[in-house]
Amino acid sequence: MWTELKAYHAKIADRRIDATLNAARAEDFSVRQGDMLFDYSKTTIDATARDLLIGLLDKSGVAAKREAMFTGQKINETEGRAVLHTALRNLDGGPVIVDGVDVVPDVRATLDRMTAYANDIRSGAVQGAGGKITDVVNIGIGGSDLGPAMAVRALSPYHDGPRCHFVSNVDPADIAEVLRGCDPATTLVIVASKTFTTIETMTNARTAKAWMGAKVADTGAQFAALSTAMDKTAAFGIAPERVFGFEDWVGGRYSMWGPIGLSLMVAIGPEAFRAFLRGGQAMDTHFRAAPWAENLPAMLALVGIWHAQVCGYGSRAVLPYDNLLGRLPAYLQQLEMESNGKGVTMDGTPVAVDSGPIVWGEPGTNGQHAFYQLIHQGTRVVPCEFMVAARGHEDDLHHQHQLLVANCLAQSEALMRGRTLDEARAKVAGKFEGAELERQARHRVFPGNRPSTTLAYPTLDPFTLGQIIALYEHRVFVEGVVLGINSYDQWGVELGKELATALQPVIEGEKGTEGKDGSTAALVGFLIKSGV
Ligand code: F6P
Repeated sequence: MWTELKAYHAKIADRRIDATLNAARAEDFSVRQGDMLFDYSKTTIDATARDLLIGLLDKSGVAAKREAMFTGQKINETEGRAVLHTALRNLDGGPVIVDGVDVVPDVRATLDRMTAYANDIRSGAVQGAGGKITDVVNIGIGGSDLGPAMAVRALSPYHDGPRCHFVSNVDPADIAEVLRGCDPATTLVIVASKTFTTIETMTNARTAKAWMGAKVADTGAQFAALSTAMDKTAAFGIAPERVFGFEDWVGGRYSMWGPIGLSLMVAIGPEAFRAFLRGGQAMDTHFRAAPWAENLPAMLALVGIWHAQVCGYGSRAVLPYDNLLGRLPAYLQQLEMESNGKGVTMDGTPVAVDSGPIVWGEPGTNGQHAFYQLIHQGTRVVPCEFMVAARGHEDDLHHQHQLLVANCLAQSEALMRGRTLDEARAKVAGKFEGAELERQARHRVFPGNRPSTTLAYPTLDPFTLGQIIALYEHRVFVEGVVLGINSYDQWGVELGKELATALQPVIEGEKGTEGKDGSTAALVGFLIKSGV
């Protein structure tokens, strides 16, 4: 199936996107879900390519796998687990059975407990030693940090609770900076860790406990835990009423819909948090029912596959023209790269094509003044995924928002149109002559025909953020199934962790560097001499 797609791509490689881009193509090559529009008409995908791509979905059994996921079958085969983050936002759907048990009642009971606790923190019914909680510090890393940190920032216009901070890095600079601005007597620390063994999180949690203990007698009252490991949260000294549990069928990078989202719930309130869940649920319903060509996650995935596996572009840029989504690229890096950055398929054989691409990005317009030069004129093609809201939250500054939108649309237009040598010559005519004119003109040529998509939505409210995050989760799922990859394990993070554990006594000077390669031994030697 890849051969046919690659052959077709080669056949249309010289075709210009803008040659056929009229209103009918814009309509035909876009998808709507609710009040959201996904436009992929500024790509080289045509009707034949789309049919071939949709053929991939059928050949790889995406529909059956989708049902297997939603109904709690153990599609994470290497870990023998179901993949049920969708159950966390199943606010009014039917039962979901795992190992003969309906998991929905437990999910709802935990959501109700989170709601009561969040309300108590927000109202002051739960107090710190010094009175009402003013600051919440979420200590977690990876999926126990990136999702809530991204969402707390994205929904900052809806904050009406305590300030929320995030500590993730084992680098002491991270926690020191956060704690410096907090009062231990009015701070709640949330230790977020699925496994409750992650070294960075547990080290930071102990540091926070010591910081609080210097001023607060009963630190336990100001600590909560979010985890699947109840024995470990108890051993750390967190009472069960402040522990919010979840099951192993929630992957770390898919976990912000449940207890890992507690900091978000405290920040924006349980009602707004439920709106976020409803947005995710609306995307689930759409994903399960819409025909492929009208299915937003499926088409976003197929555009991704076209660019990464068929055209061979090695990365994709996520460019939100929405400053509130400033942490979205980092969040998507984990979601997409930890899920689909793998070299073998489910049965252990090598992946037939490239695995998932490198994902990166920055909000516009900042990126325009940094790396867009390469996107427009560099020799590598970077497919760009623009995102833009019709309205921001600053009604009195709407003219600035309009300028932002104009920039977003201008960039995708510029990438597609480019500028010919003749047009460039006309630009510099009058300023230069002869050979110098020719030389100057060549620097002003833009190749164009560079693909981009745009996701447009009315405004970034909790419901819309839920739609967006669920959209990307399902994109990852579809891409993973087509590649034959297990998107829900992450064995690639293990080796570095093991070697770090082995290196710690070497760095601390308790062990020598015997058996280490020359480079690592030399670096250890340099750092020890320099005072590590
Ligand atoms: O290092 C990878 C990872 O396991 C991620 O998948 C996960 O989100 C992160 O570490 C944190 O894990 P935990 O929530 O168990 O502390």
